[in-house]
Amino acid sequence: MEKLVVANLKMNLLSLVEREQYLKAFKKEIKGKKMSKAGMVLCPPFVHLEAFQKARLGETALGAQDMFWERSGSFTGEISPAMLKNFGCEFVVVGHSERRRYFSESDEEVKMKIAAAFKIGLKPILCVGETRVERNSGQAARVIGRQVKSALIDLSRAKAENLTIAYEPVWAIGADVTPTAHEIMEVKVLVRKILVEIFGKKYANMVKIIYGGNVTPQTTKETCLEPGLDGALVGRASLAPHEFIKIVEIINNN
Ligand code: 13P
Repeated sequence: MEKLVVANLKMNLLSLVEREQYLKAFKKEIKGKKMSKAGMVLCPPFVHLEAFQKARLGETALGAQDMFWERSGSFTGEISPAMLKNFGCEFVVVGHSERRRYFSESDEEVKMKIAAAFKIGLKPILCVGETRVERNSGQAARVIGRQVKSALIDLSRAKAENLTIAYEPVWAIGADVTPTAHEIMEVKVLVRKILVEIFGKKYANMVKIIYGGNVTPQTTKETCLEPGLDGALVGRASLAPHEFIKIVEIINNN
């Protein structure tokens, strides 16, 4: 299975100048590099999607950081799955912990977004993960299990092929700590088990499981390679194209 390295640029690149600098630096970094075993996905803020698509950044695919579940209509401020599709997105991040936390996104809403993504032909990247308090009180498996099950329970098995699950422990996001390879492996095993329950073994194995939360060139080995994951979801380090490409190279070459 091809690995996936996803750049979540979050609410950054505030001006045209910043955006152009980013695109220029990114192009320079990927020049002449062949990443045959790792696909790259760039998820800029909505306002930059079109420019990123037009920039033709080598083999990279385009993704959005969120979307609404309705197709069109009176939903002021929202972004439609059809818009993403028509503006060149292949992927969409759904249920990021920052959306769950700051915008009160519920499991039910996450489920509707996952269904809407598949309906229009977008590949969802479902984010799940526990808080520090939940981990310390032994609730991590229960929370992650609930998030995975509630989002996927009604999906047909044919959808598995285009699904990615990102394990992002909330306490590692934006922080300078990471779980150990063993802790990540435990979550991988748990998620895979739930996927088998939902999709059956053959299809469960088609789902990519990636890790996010303080992924840097220094932490990639322990957080992605050692637990045998299918890639990474990168926040801060993706704002520096040379760091992001280093991460992609580490994953591609292993
Ligand atoms: P950081 O890589 O900045 O910790 O963010 C991770 C993340 O939230 C990616 O979606």
